[in-house]
Amino acid sequence: MWNGHHLLSCRGADAAQARELLSLAHADAFDGAGLNGRTVANLFFEDSTRTRVSFTIAAQKLGARVVDLGSKGSSLSKGESLIDTAWTIESMGVDALVVRAAQSGACELISRHVDIPVINAGDGMHQHPTQALTDALNIGRAHGRTGGWDFSGLHVVIVGDVVSSRVARSNAALLRALGARVTLCGPAMMCPGSLSGLGCEVSHDLDALVDQADVMMMLRIQFERGGGARLASSRLYHACYGLTLRRAARMKEGAIVMHPGPMNRGVEIAGEVADGSRSVIRDQVEGGVLVRKAALRLAMDRASSGS
Ligand code: CP
Repeated sequence: MWNGHHLLSCRGADAAQARELLSLAHADAFDGAGLNGRTVANLFFEDSTRTRVSFTIAAQKLGARVVDLGSKGSSLSKGESLIDTAWTIESMGVDALVVRAAQSGACELISRHVDIPVINAGDGMHQHPTQALTDALNIGRAHGRTGGWDFSGLHVVIVGDVVSSRVARSNAALLRALGARVTLCGPAMMCPGSLSGLGCEVSHDLDALVDQADVMMMLRIQFERGGGARLASSRLYHACYGLTLRRAARMKEGAIVMHPGPMNRGVEIAGEVADGSRSVIRDQVEGGVLVRKAALRLAMDRASSGS
């Protein structure tokens, strides 16, 4: 999971490293100072609410200063490259970069040009590792797996615009590494059979899965990545692939509903289900701070020790 002191991807995730981070996040082991005098830069070149604010809060809770940069208001708008932007910020004495970018692979590219840790906060359709770790934290908590973070026997169904989704790709890799069975589900345009290359089952029949899953993870239609063109109509999509009240009523006892946010209520998930008793969506947001605290602290520790 770690690439030296960079956290870039869940592909090929090392289960032991993931379990270490999840245990530390679950225990909130790094609460209080630890990064006093350090500076974390949030480079968010694509919009974000949850990830950006939770990294800010996490860094502040660890005692670090935070500087924020977006594509608007930075010299990226004058044509400066991502790499030049990143090393310019590094040259000012920043200790870690948290990067969100619209381009798949941008974070890995930046990591090759700076010496300080780079944490991927979501790059294009590629990866969003701290979201997957947040989701794993909540699955482990909801299903009583916090002892060893062994997800054997758990069936996670990820539903929606999978082809556009960095959250799905990160979760597929991480949850499988932790032992879960993962099924990807959606209409063929959003969930083509080729996604079985992620090592997951692929299905187009949500109704055949909804009473089998321990976790229903609903994904947003990613209109900014062409999801709208793959959507005949929001009403039809909701009827065929939305987590409606009727479908949620068929879920197994103890099964949970997840959504990484932001949600299109009434499209991929009914508002009543998002706010209902099976939903851990608010817990996902809370857990995001814990995971990001652990990720920042471990990244800094690994940089200090020369990992
Ligand atoms: N889940 C997620 O990445 O949300 P934001 O885009 O609001 O950060």
